Amino acid sequence: MDTALEIDLLTLFPVMAAGYLEESMLGRAQKHGLLSVNVHDIRKWAEGKHKVTDDRPFGGGAGMVMKPEPLFGVIESVKREETQVIYMAPDGEKLTQPLAKELSQAKHLVFLSGHYEGIDQRVRDCLVDREVSIGDYVLTNGTIAACVVIDALARYIPGVLGEEKSLTQDSFTASLLTFPQFTRPAEFRGMRVPEVLLSGNHAEIDAWRLAQRKENTKSKRPDIISPDPEDESSH
Ligand code: ADE
Repeated sequence: MDTALEIDLLTLFPVMAAGYLEESMLGRAQKHGLLSVNVHDIRKWAEGKHKVTDDRPFGGGAGMVMKPEPLFGVIESVKREETQVIYMAPDGEKLTQPLAKELSQAKHLVFLSGHYEGIDQRVRDCLVDREVSIGDYVLTNGTIAACVVIDALARYIPGVLGEEKSLTQDSFTASLLTFPQFTRPAEFRGMRVPEVLLSGNHAEIDAWRLAQRKENTKSKRPDIISPDPEDESSH
């Protein structure tokens, strides 16, 4: 079977990435051939006895910058015609559910994880197609950020989730957060599961869940609500 999506992750911390990617659903997806992720150690592409990957910034300033040579070397070793190279950076476009879905449709993605104060701009200009941030905060490196994007996009690959239906109930689909979930026992320490969920009436359950999604969104994330064109009260 053809692997649906191939991913190469380029990092100075391959062990950090491997631990995340081998576990749980991502590990299972790879075993089943739905996704393949290869992790590459950028340091292998560094020159000299000390395999130096960073240097001081021209113009001065704090911190170190990743050198262009190892990055050109590693990217050119994996890049093909259909490849999208994604640089993980706090100043990139912010990861959203629609972006995760869009990326899941690619054939070959290369994630480049930066470190130190960033990477030499020539790499960004020549080899990077897209820059993605996982949020408005700065991490020490982009490895876990790349894993977060891979995790979010993998859920859209057919067969990765046990039930595709969970995708339509996720938070951030239809501009709504998700609804509260309960499992057995029906009563725990005096707290009862809402009766409607025990009723077996699926129309009522769906209506209750939709109402909960709207309520949840209104109270926690009013910023993501888009006006409902059918709802006169929002006009
Ligand atoms: N590298 C450092 N911080 C990051 C962020 N917020 N998103 C993506 N990559 C990063």
